[in-house]
Amino acid sequence: MTPESIWPGRRIVCVETCESTNDLAWRAAFEGAPHGTAIFADEQTRGRGRQGRTWTAPRASGILCSILLRTELDADHSPLVTVVGALAVTEVTRRFGVPTRIRFPNDVYVGGRKLAGVLVEARFISSRPDLFILGIGLNVNGRPMGLPATSLAEEAGHELSRPAVARALLEGVDEWGARLDGPVDPFQEAWSSRSELLDRSVRVWENGKSTTGTVSAIHCLEGIELRLHTGHVRFYRSEHVERLEMV
Ligand code: BTN
Repeated sequence: MTPESIWPGRRIVCVETCESTNDLAWRAAFEGAPHGTAIFADEQTRGRGRQGRTWTAPRASGILCSILLRTELDADHSPLVTVVGALAVTEVTRRFGVPTRIRFPNDVYVGGRKLAGVLVEARFISSRPDLFILGIGLNVNGRPMGLPATSLAEEAGHELSRPAVARALLEGVDEWGARLDGPVDPFQEAWSSRSELLDRSVRVWENGKSTTGTVSAIHCLEGIELRLHTGHVRFYRSEHVERLEMV
C-alpha cells in the first residue's frame, strides 16, 4: 500500500491530553480539515462513550483516536461507519494474535471482557449524512480501568507498540472505509461471522425497558433480531439500544 492510497491518517494530529478526541475532530472538521484526518491523544479528560457513558483509560496506555470522514452516505447506510470501526479493530487485534468478537452495537470483546469501543457521531444535511467522526478507544497496554475490561497486552501476554497498533488500525479503517460506496454484502458477511451474539441469549435495554431473548440474526444496517421465549421476534436498531448484556 503506498502512502498516497491511504486516506485515514493522511493527516495525523497527536496531542498529549484533551477532553475528547471526537471534540478535536469536530473542531478540525469545521476548520476545513481533510477527509481522513486522524487525531490521537495520550489522555482524555472527558472521553465519551455511547448513550452518555464515559470512556476512561490510563494515560498513554491505549489508542484514543478519532478519524474524520467526509463521506456522503444514504442515511440508512450510516450504521456502516460503526461497522467499519469494529471490523478494523477486530483485524488489528487478530494481527497481534488476539481473537476478538464484535458485540453489537459497537463493542469489541475477548473472552467476555471489553477491549474496545466505537463511537460514531455524524452531521446530517437535509437528512443525509456528509461528515462522520469515527471515534475508537482500544486498550493496548496495562490494566484498563473499569470491569470487566481487558487490554491487548493482557490477552497477548506482552506489551505492544502503540504506534504499530495505531498504524494497523488506520490500515483497517482504510480498507473497510474504501468499501463504504460499494455493496453491503462484504460488511454483512464479516459482521455476522465476527459477531459474538448470534444464537446467544441477551438482555437488551431500549427506552429504559429490558427484554431477554436469543439473537436470531444480525444485520449491519437494520440491527439485531431477537427471538423472545414467547416465540415473537423483535428488531432492535443499533441507535436505539441503550445497553446489551449476555445472560
Ligand atoms: C463506547 O464504548 O461506548 C464507545 C467508546 C468510544 C471511546 C473513544 S476514545 C476516542 C474517541 N473520543 C471519545 O471521546 N470517545 C471515542
